Amino acid sequence: MVVMVFFAMVANPTQAEYPNPKTHDYDPDNGEEINELCAGCHGEYGQGGGDGEYPRLAGLPAKYLAKQLHQFKIQERNSVAMSMYATDREISATDLLDISIYLAELKLLTIMPDFTPETSSLEKLQTARQVFNVARFDGDVEKGQEIFSTQCTKCHGKDGLGRGSTPQLVGQYTEYLRVQIGDYQSGKRTNKRMDKYIMPLTAKDIEALLAYLSVADD
Ligand code: HEC
Ligand code: HEC
Repeated sequence: MVVMVFFAMVANPTQAEYPNPKTHDYDPDNGEEINELCAGCHGEYGQGGGDGEYPRLAGLPAKYLAKQLHQFKIQERNSVAMSMYATDREISATDLLDISIYLAELKLLTIMPDFTPETSSLEKLQTARQVFNVARFDGDVEKGQEIFSTQCTKCHGKDGLGRGSTPQLVGQYTEYLRVQIGDYQSGKRTNKRMDKYIMPLTAKDIEALLAYLSVADD
């Protein structure tokens, strides 16, 4: 085991900096407790809010979430709202991994399930809060699909649901995605692998992509 970790670090030194959920001894109760802090903005079920001012976190890959929290912590990614919640004092390495795995395992529904006559109104209300759909954003869906399938799927996945350190884009708020694309283009947020694909996008391309992503899981 020790030998394997050693080789992994030698083979890929940049990855070794980020906390890795794979080798973490997960404590779900701790994850749930930390989530109470996050829920004020990101929602009890990680569904986000404020029309995308607060991104959805539920179901995003654990490795991606852990990497983002680490980046907020070392201020490689900057957000005034997030900075207080990602300092060393607020979130230890263990907490960071527990909350990442907890959020990755939260599942949102895209449609309301059928209820039996016995279902209590409290249960109905709680279930309704877990139903999440991105509002349809009008635009050139066909053009967006064309750009997405030729330039984005090789990392974000055919279904746009992401994997590993790559986030899901389908099922994420349109306004949040718009801000992030803008942040990459302005250099506020950087990622070497992404820049090549994000930089050439025109305003029209971005509108088309957002329109496609908003309906891709309908
Ligand atoms: C005061 C509101 C607020 C609270 C509380 C908060 N966040 Fe955030 N969070 C934000 C905002 C705003 C953003 C978007 C930042 C940006 O635009 O880059 C964000 C972004 C994120 C992201 C990046 C998502 C992505 O798709 O890249 C993660 C991960 C995250 N928050 C995790 C957490 C966790 C875990 C907690 C609790 C420990 C938490 N947040 C508490 C406001 C908040
Ligand atoms: C070579 C792989 C790769 C390709 C191709 C790629 N991405 Fe990404 N993308 C990533 C990675 C990795 C991240 C996470 C970067 C980070 O940690 O900040 C990311 C992050 C993003 C985010 C931020 C999401 C969030 O939750 O904050 C958006 C938006 C995005 N990509 C859009 C696109 C679009 C649109 C395309 C196609 C035009 C694209 N990407 C192509 C790898 C890629």
